[in-house]
This record gives sequence, structure tokens and C-alpha cells, in this order.
Amino acid sequence: MWQPPERIKHELPPAAWPSAEQASRARLFQPIQLGPRTAKQRTWVPAMVPWRSTDEGFVTPDVIDWYQRFAAGKPGVIVVEATGIREVPSGPLLRIGHDRFIEGLTKLTRAVREASEGESLLFIQLIDFLQIRRRPPRDKFFSRFLALRPRHRDALVARGDAEAASCSDDELRAKLAAVPDKQLASVLDARELEDLERGYRERVTDVHLPQIAELPIMLPTLFADAATRAMAAGFDGVELHFAHAYTMASFLSALNTRTDGYGGSRENRIKLPLEVVRAVKQRVGDRAVVGCRYLGDDVIEGGMHLPDATWFGVQLAGAGLDFLSISKGGKFEDAKQPKVGWSAYPYTGQSGYECMPTIYSDERGPFARNVPLASTIRRAVREAGLATPVVTAGGIADFAMAEQVLEHGEADLVASARQTLADPDWFLKMRLGRGSEIRRCEFTNYCEALDQQHKQVTCKLWDREELDAPDVTLAEDGKRRLVAPRWRR
Ligand SMILES: Cc1cc2nc3c(=O)[nH]c(=O)nc-3n(C[C@H](O)[C@H](O)[C@H](O)COP(=O)(O)O)c2cc1C
Ligand code: SF4
Repeated sequence: MWQPPERIKHELPPAAWPSAEQASRARLFQPIQLGPRTAKQRTWVPAMVPWRSTDEGFVTPDVIDWYQRFAAGKPGVIVVEATGIREVPSGPLLRIGHDRFIEGLTKLTRAVREASEGESLLFIQLIDFLQIRRRPPRDKFFSRFLALRPRHRDALVARGDAEAASCSDDELRAKLAAVPDKQLASVLDARELEDLERGYRERVTDVHLPQIAELPIMLPTLFADAATRAMAAGFDGVELHFAHAYTMASFLSALNTRTDGYGGSRENRIKLPLEVVRAVKQRVGDRAVVGCRYLGDDVIEGGMHLPDATWFGVQLAGAGLDFLSISKGGKFEDAKQPKVGWSAYPYTGQSGYECMPTIYSDERGPFARNVPLASTIRRAVREAGLATPVVTAGGIADFAMAEQVLEHGEADLVASARQTLADPDWFLKMRLGRGSEIRRCEFTNYCEALDQQHKQVTCKLWDREELDAPDVTLAEDGKRRLVAPRWRR
């Protein structure tokens, strides 16, 4: 992962945990209304993909264990990982694009409700993503993947190869493959070079492809259908994934230059997200919480920054969303070049760092790093006369930090991903005045590296503990337990 050049190692801030009595009065543990439901506290476990479903996207016992483990800590809200809304195979990532997924998801909602004793609301994050392929071996790219164009012949002729004007396609492919890497820019255009060096990736601006041109027609119904299934499965609500590297965030990004009314100006870029919100709300009405996660800043060149994000927040809140969850970065555009045979991973560049900052940071450090985005958006939403709750995330991992965010009115709920992975019981420990027993996240991103390799996600602080205990399920590598050991109170 990219790291700030300063590479200053930050220590965890000294934690002052509350007594049970202090916790009972703390803002963090007060209820808050989210549309038609009440979260019993302002603690939030944001979406985290654990790579536990079947290759067909079904819920497995390991998926249930993962969320039950979070539920045991009884947070206000748990958001189930990014779950695909289409009939597209996507490896061990959950799916909700057909009614056949409802049965497994129903088991999941029941298990979580039981484990949290009804204390936690359960939402599911609904995602659409575009096609991405692995970085191809060079020979295969030239022999099979590259779509030949007359300009390829012209470019070779311009390089002095007169035969290229009339040779067979196979010979043309061989001639192109023989061009040295450093000179490829003279025969391939920028997009072809990228396909070779990083793997093919669809963009929302590829409107010459019918499936991309039609996204505005397809997506509102796909999201609404998925939300209907989420209700049928017993979720309390849905989080529309408008963040990071995926389709909806790409519509919001300033890099979206579509000319069909869905790109260019910010009014056009938010058109599809608003149509999705309307379709989902029309379908699930006031029966479910409908919120979205989107970016306060893309953190990429030419991307969207806070002024646009603030304006979007007012529009999304005005469209009747029940919460806005603000994230940052996590884009493909600045991702590191993958190895041959691997896909680009959107959390390897600077934008990825800003999404999941580590202790190796700049002066500012990783803790509560993204709060200013949420705070600016929240202020604008309030100035527009809207009371929509705003969720913030990013390096918030102790009581004082979370409480301060709420006290200063910078956000209404505080989401903690990695700290909750490190210790799923930490909310409960705080409430019971037993904060000294909390296992504190070290923010070195071992978990995120596993995610990057599409390996089952675990935390280094507990995944080697008591591996031979009778109730322990091991990861596929046989070396790690899949969920944190139970807290022996
Ligand atoms: C292993 C892992 C998987 C993640 N998966 C998702 C996801 O599915 N959807 C999402 O919006 N964010 C995802 N995130 C980002 C987190 O929700 C969160 O925004 C980020 O980790 C920063 O919060 P933290 O500092 O509390 O960890 C993931 C993070 C991690 C570490
Ligand atoms: S693996 Fe590291 S960064 Fe991830 S949750 Fe555990 S301590 Fe935190």
C-alpha cells in the first residue's frame, strides 16, 4: 500500500476508557433515530468484506459466524459487507441479485438478531461494480486480447515497417508484440497500454458499450429489487454503496464525462444516484432504513473533492435518505500495477491509504483523519434545514476520540471497522466500564493485506490464538482462526 513519504510512525493515543456510569451518560451510547428505526447507540460497524461466502455468492456458516461475532459486542448498527446486486459471478463475495439468495441472508439476519439480543440494527451494503480483468501475460494480450485496428498498421508503418500495411492479422499481432516495452506507446493508445499493464477495466464513460450506456436505465431497478430482497430477508435497512471504486461512485466522480445527461456537471453526475435513491425508496417506502455511503473526496487527480461532495450531501439528504456515511478515496485510478495474473486492487494507492490509513502516516496521522469531510458535509446538510444523520469513519478507535466527534457535532454516529475487527466486544467492554480489557487495533493493515490477496480476512492480534480449541474454525490455509476468541467476562 502507498504510504505518505514522511512515513512518521504514530503511537496509539493513550486511551482513557469510561466507567460504566460515564458510559451510560456518554453521547456514544445514546439512541438516535435513523428513518423508521432507532439505533440504540451511535456505534457503527461499517461494511467489511471478509471473503467468506461461496463462489456463487451464498451465505456460508463462516459468514454467519463473522457477523454473529460482531453482534456479540452489541453495536448500534452493523452493516453487512458490499453485496452484489447483479447476476454476475464475483468469487466469494455475497450476492443479492436473485431471490435464491434470500434464504441464506434470512439465516444471517436471524443469527445476528439473536446474537445481539435485538440490540443492533442490521443493514446490508448494496453494490454494483463494473467488469475488471486480471493483468494479462504480454504474449496473450497481443495474440488474443488486443482488438486490432487500422491505426495499429499505420503506427507500425510509421515506425518503418512497410510490410505491416498488408500483412495478415496474425503477422500484425506478432509485429506488435515485437515492439519493445518502452516503445509501445508508439503503437498502442493509452487505454490499450493500460489494458496490457494493469488489466482491462470498464468505466462508466465507456458509453460505446451498450451495457455501460444503459446503466442509467438498469441500475435504479437493480438496486430497488435488491432492497426488496433485503427486506424479505429481514434486514432493517440498506446502505447504497456510492463510495470507493465502484459504479455509483464513478458516476459522482468529476472523472465522469458522460455526455448523455449523466456526466459532466455535478447536477448531471448526481442524477443517477438520485434516481436510484428514489427507486429504492419507492419500493421499500418507510418500512426500511435507506442510506448511502459516498466519498467526501476521491483523492485522485481530476476526481471529486469536498465542495462537490458537500453539495451532493445536501441533494442526497434532500432526497430523503435516512443517513449519509462518509468515506474517502479507495479508487482504481491510482492503484498500484498488479502482478501478471492479478487484478488491480483499489486500496493500494494514495486514495486507498486515505480510505484505510495506517500508523505510518504524515504529520496529521491516521486517527480520526477523515472527520473533517463528514463535519463539513454535516454542516451544509444542517444549514439546508435537514436533520439527516451523518456517519464518519477512519481511524476512530477509542472512547475519547469518538465522544469528541459527537460532542463537537462533527458527525452523528461513529463507525469503526478495524478496531471492531481487532476486538468485536469493544463496545460492550466500554459500556461495562471494562475498557482496560480492549484489544486495540494497531493500524498496520495486516487485515487489509489479506483482503487484497482475496484471502479470508482475520486480525493479527487474535488469529493464532487457541487454534486447537474445539469450537474453532480455521481459515483455508489451516493456520488462522476465522473469528476472534470469545470474551471470557
Ligand atoms: C478488510 C476490509 C474490508 C472492507 N470492506 C469494505 C466494504 O465492503 N465496503 C465499504 O464501504 N468499506 C469497506 N472497508 C472500509 C471500512 O468500512 C472503513 O471505511 C475503513 O476501514 C476505515 O475505517 P477504520 O479506520 O475504522 O478501519 C473495508 C475495510 C477493511 C479493513
Ligand atoms: S490486523 Fe492490524 S490493522 Fe487489522 S484489525 Fe488487526 S490490528 Fe487492526
